This record gives sequence, C-alpha cells and structure tokens, in this order.
Amino acid sequence: MTIAAHITQLRSEIEEHLYRYHVLDAPTISDAAYDQLFRELEQLEAAHPEYVTPDSPTQRVGAKPLAGFGEIRHRVAMLSLENAFSESEVQAFWQRINDRFPHIKSIDLTCEPKLDGVAVNLHYEKGKLIYAATRGDGETGEDITSNVRTIRMIPLHLRGTHLPEVLDVRGEIYISKKGFAALNEAAVRRDEKIFANPRNAAAGSLRQLDPKITAKRPLEFFAHGVGEMSGVDLPTAHFDCMRMLQAWGLRVSPDLIKVADSEGCLNYYQAMQARRAHLPYEIDGVVYKVNDYKIQQNLGFVARAPRWAIAHKFPAEEVMTTLLAVEFQVGRTGALTPVARLAPVAVAGVMVSNATLHNMDEIKRKDIHIGDKVMVRRAGDVIPEVVGVAVRHAHHALEIHLPTMCPVCHSHVEHIAGEAVARCSGGLFCPAQRVQAILHFASRRAMDIVGLGDKLVEQLVAEGMISTIADLYHLTLSQLAQLERMAEKSADNLLAALDKSRTTTLARFLFSLGIREVGEATARQLAEHFRSLDALMIADTPALEQVADVGPIVARHIVAFFAEKHNVKVINDLRAAGVHWPALPARVSSGKLIGKTFVLTGTLNTLARDEAKEKLQALGAKVAGSVSAKTDFVVAGSDAGSKLAKAEALGVKVMDEAALLELLQSNCSGAP
Ligand code: IVH
Repeated sequence: MTIAAHITQLRSEIEEHLYRYHVLDAPTISDAAYDQLFRELEQLEAAHPEYVTPDSPTQRVGAKPLAGFGEIRHRVAMLSLENAFSESEVQAFWQRINDRFPHIKSIDLTCEPKLDGVAVNLHYEKGKLIYAATRGDGETGEDITSNVRTIRMIPLHLRGTHLPEVLDVRGEIYISKKGFAALNEAAVRRDEKIFANPRNAAAGSLRQLDPKITAKRPLEFFAHGVGEMSGVDLPTAHFDCMRMLQAWGLRVSPDLIKVADSEGCLNYYQAMQARRAHLPYEIDGVVYKVNDYKIQQNLGFVARAPRWAIAHKFPAEEVMTTLLAVEFQVGRTGALTPVARLAPVAVAGVMVSNATLHNMDEIKRKDIHIGDKVMVRRAGDVIPEVVGVAVRHAHHALEIHLPTMCPVCHSHVEHIAGEAVARCSGGLFCPAQRVQAILHFASRRAMDIVGLGDKLVEQLVAEGMISTIADLYHLTLSQLAQLERMAEKSADNLLAALDKSRTTTLARFLFSLGIREVGEATARQLAEHFRSLDALMIADTPALEQVADVGPIVARHIVAFFAEKHNVKVINDLRAAGVHWPALPARVSSGKLIGKTFVLTGTLNTLARDEAKEKLQALGAKVAGSVSAKTDFVVAGSDAGSKLAKAEALGVKVMDEAALLELLQSNCSGAP
C-alpha cells in the first residue's frame, strides 16, 4: 500500500470509530486501540507532511489563535422558540394547529429534550464542514469554525456517498454535568473563576480566541434541525430528517420520539421530567415540533418563533428557605468560602441544607443577611447556591462577617480590598492547605524532592506522619516502610531525595514556601535583592516594593505571610532540620554605579531587560522608566525610539548594549 493510501485508510478508520463512539454510542474498539490508530496516523503525517490536509482528524486543533471572531450571515434565519409553562399552554398550541387544518385527520408531533447550551449552525458543502457559526441575533452570528473543529463529536466529513451539495445543520453545543463539574474543579484548583452553570461554561469555551483552549473543554453536540439544504431530496418530515442526519454521521438525541397528539406530548414531558436529574446533561424543558415539513411551512412563524414548535419548560429549580447561619470553609489553596446553613428544603427532588454563597462580594451585592428568606437554586449535579434574598427578616436580620481568624487553623485571614477571595495566611501550617503546600514545596522547580507525588503526600498526611513541610525531614525508613505499596527501595530513594533537597538556594526556598503570587521569577528577584532570608522576613511593604515586579499587592502577601507566627515556626523548623543555602555576598556599598539612574530602552539582545535591570540594581544603580534631566545613562538597544531621542535632546549619556555589558563586567570584577 502506498503511504497516501495508508493515510487515507487510517483517516477513514478513525472517522468510523469516532462515529461509532459518539453518534451510535456503540464503540467497537477500546480507547487504547483508538489512541494507537490516532498515533499511527500522527506519526505517518509527521514523516510525510506533504500529505497533511486540514480535514485530517489530526488537524482539529491546528488553527492559530484569532484576533477576534468574524461575522457570518445565516442563509436561513435561526429562529427561537415560544415557551409554554403549563399544560393549558401546550393544549392551546395544539388547538391552534388543529384549527388551522380542520380537514387533516392526524397531525404527528415530535418530542425531544430541550438542551441548555449554545445554538449553532454547521455549514457543510459536499459533505465537508466549511464553517460553524453561533445563532447571534438569528440573522448574523459569530464565526466559531476553528473552535467547533476541535469538537470530536462533530464530523469534519459527513458519511456516505449520496450527500447534499449544501447542508446547514442546526444544533446545540453543550457541556455535560460531569464535564462541567470537572471544569470547575480544575478552576478551583488553579484559583480561577468558576462557571455559574454548564450553559455559561459552553458559551465561554466557544468564545475562546485560542482553539487550543477550546480543545481542552469537554464540549458535546446534538443536532436538532436543518437550515438550508440542496442537492439531494430531504425526507418530508422532521423525524425522518433527523434519522438521515444520524446516518450522515451527526449526533441526534436518542430521546427523539413521534407522538399523535398533545396527550402524547404531556406524557413525554412527565417522563422526561422524571429522568431529568439522571440525564448526563442539563435540559430545561422539552420541545414539541409538527413533524410534517409541509404543515410546518404552512403554519409559518410569528415574530422570531415558528408556529409549528413550542418549548415546554420545566419549572425553575429554585425554592425559598431560611438562611439559618453562615460558616466559612477553607479550601486547599486557603480560600475562605462562605457556606449557607439552610432550613432543609427539597430543590428539584433533592433535600438541600447547605449552599454556597461564593464570596463576601457576592453576599454584599445580593445584600444577604442571616435570618433572611433566600432563594436556593440547584442545577443538575452542581453545588446548590443562594441566588438572592426573597424576603428580608425585618427584625432579626444579622449581618454576615468575614472571620478574622481561619476557622481551621486560627491563622490570620487576609482580605485585600478589590479581591473577591479572602484567604487564610497560614499556608505552611493550616491543615486545610497541607497537601497543597507540601506538593508545591516538593515540586520540581521548588525543592525538587523526587518521588514525593500526590498519592504519597495524601497518604502521609492521612496517616498523621506529616502535618507541615518541616516534618518531611523527620520521616524515617521504618515509618515509610509501614505505608501501603511502599517498597524499601522507594523509601530509601525518597529519604535520599529529601536529604539532597536540604541543600538548596535562597531563591528556590522562597519559591517553595508558596507565598501567594510569589512565583519563581519574583522569588529570584527577592533573593537577589534581600540577599538573606532574615532581611526579607523583616522587610516592610515600601522595602519590598523596591524589588522589580513587586507591587503593593504582592508586597502585602509577603508581609502577611511572614507576620503569621505559624509560618515562621515552620521556617525555623526547616532550618533546624538542616535546610540551608549558600550565603549571598552582601550588596555592594561602594562602586561607581551606586545611586546612578539608568533608563533601558529598545531591545537588548544578550540580556533580557529584567536581567539587565537586576544586575544594575545589584550594583547599586537605580533603573527608571522614563528619561529626565536626572537620568545618568540611557542604554539604547536596537530600535530604540522616543526615549533615545529625549536623552539626546537633554544631553544624557547614551550607551549601547555592548557598553552596558562591559560596564557590568568591569564593576563585577571590582575594577574601577
Ligand atoms: S428547535 C425553530 N430543538 O432552544 C426551531 N431548539 O429557545 C428552533 N434548543 O435557539 C430550535 N434544544 O438553541 C430546538 N431540541 C431542540 C432544542 C432547541 C435546545 C435551543 C435552541 C434555540 C433555543 C430556543
């Protein structure tokens, strides 16, 4: 077989398996075997890039980040739906249809779930996905092609030989309940904002300018209709048309059914409502559509909604109850989350007595007090939340206060104005933050303790063998040998790695403490500037702000961290356990650069700008952002602009990068 033929064969095999997995929900090979096929194709394409085409399954995430989304005008408008909230509204809908066609004996309807996601249009030409757009205002939507291509459930090619010239597939992109929970868990772990609900998560994921980010989001798709279509005879009814789409490789709801009248619709509604909590995705109702396209056409539409379809919505999953108390939970990163203790109440079939209040800003914004009657919402598997106040308790409303001490470890709570989240400052000590603090401490770029992974840390903490990072250095072979699945060899290795980590650098040590917003680079600058841990520990905010990259917020985090005596104790314990680093020579107090002001401009080729700045500062010079009469030297890299011109106008000395390097060199070696 030629290479080209082999590639073609692998691609169609992969597409076939994607179809069986996602559309038919009946895979015929294991995930591992599928991965194997995919890797084989990737390797072949890497060796023969001349055969790579944009429609290869390997190229779903190929596109570069966009600057913005283009617009796409829908060839057939994307309508919305009229809502019904009661049985009588559904009866009225059915009555209107029958009144219009008194001579037709039976008019079939279809019933399907109403997914809570983002409506999209997929445009195929000759079976190939050409573009994808959001609904937008119904006339014009956003071009989200690169993002949609990353969704494996959406075929890049339709299956079969007898394909339409043009086919607009209408459907819903959504995120399952499981996918949503995983996304939010990851966001919490990374200290990022969580999504309010799966719909927002899906919309946010499709609105990413970088398809690589979208590719990581668990987006799914169901087709629920067609727009423009030409080149092949379409079935004459919705139900058959959906079957056709499925045969072409598009995912269609397995819960699409045909019924004979409004009674069939209402039975379906009841059945789906009962199944709602168990479905893997969120639905906010069901949709009834007249099955026959001719009748649909005849009925037409009013305003933006068709007369031939209606959404029968489920009642809101919101109920009222009393807010009895508020407690604060401390997360792995030290974030304090206010949790409402509620008078128990059933929300969408589940008893709820706790709900999140998110953070203090939200409490203020919603003006929530203890004693209030509040609205509580539960959507699918999502943690219940307090939506807002329904009735203020006139006499006993109690204000909610952020505790000043961590409810877990009694360290101080740090709440910086303008930041939503308040945190426990006892990062090295707080039991709630233990596992996180130890894992960070051991990580490669921190103390680099090889072999200390998350399972082991969880185990050591659970067994009570360690409670702070300092305890790591007191672990013994016999203790480790007691642990399940710990071979003697690995225990030895771990002890050796721990011992090795005792010798480190001040920069690594600072980074490993996990002070908020002190990353590797900031830790390095702090070490360079303060030269000793003791000097850093007593620095106040103005002294800290002298360091490049340390602004008022980072400075406050550092001060709060060392002000917490629990943390200081852990640091002392670490030093007592033998953790040490080479002393850095004291800062220069004499030399010709002391007190001289430099401005750096243009691109430096050998040194990064920050590096040059640090080196100059280490020699006692100041580095300013703009040129003035007080500037002593301007260092002009390539393509220097207005600052260079200003220096020349003011008669300030200008040097190039080579001269700067020479200057740094001569000052370091102590030459005059
Ligand atoms: S049919 C003219 N079917 O609901 C027909 N829509 O409230 C319009 N939706 O924009 C759409 N599930 O995004 C249809 N099974 C379903 C649906 C569905 C969810 C969304 C769709 C539409 C919105 C209207």
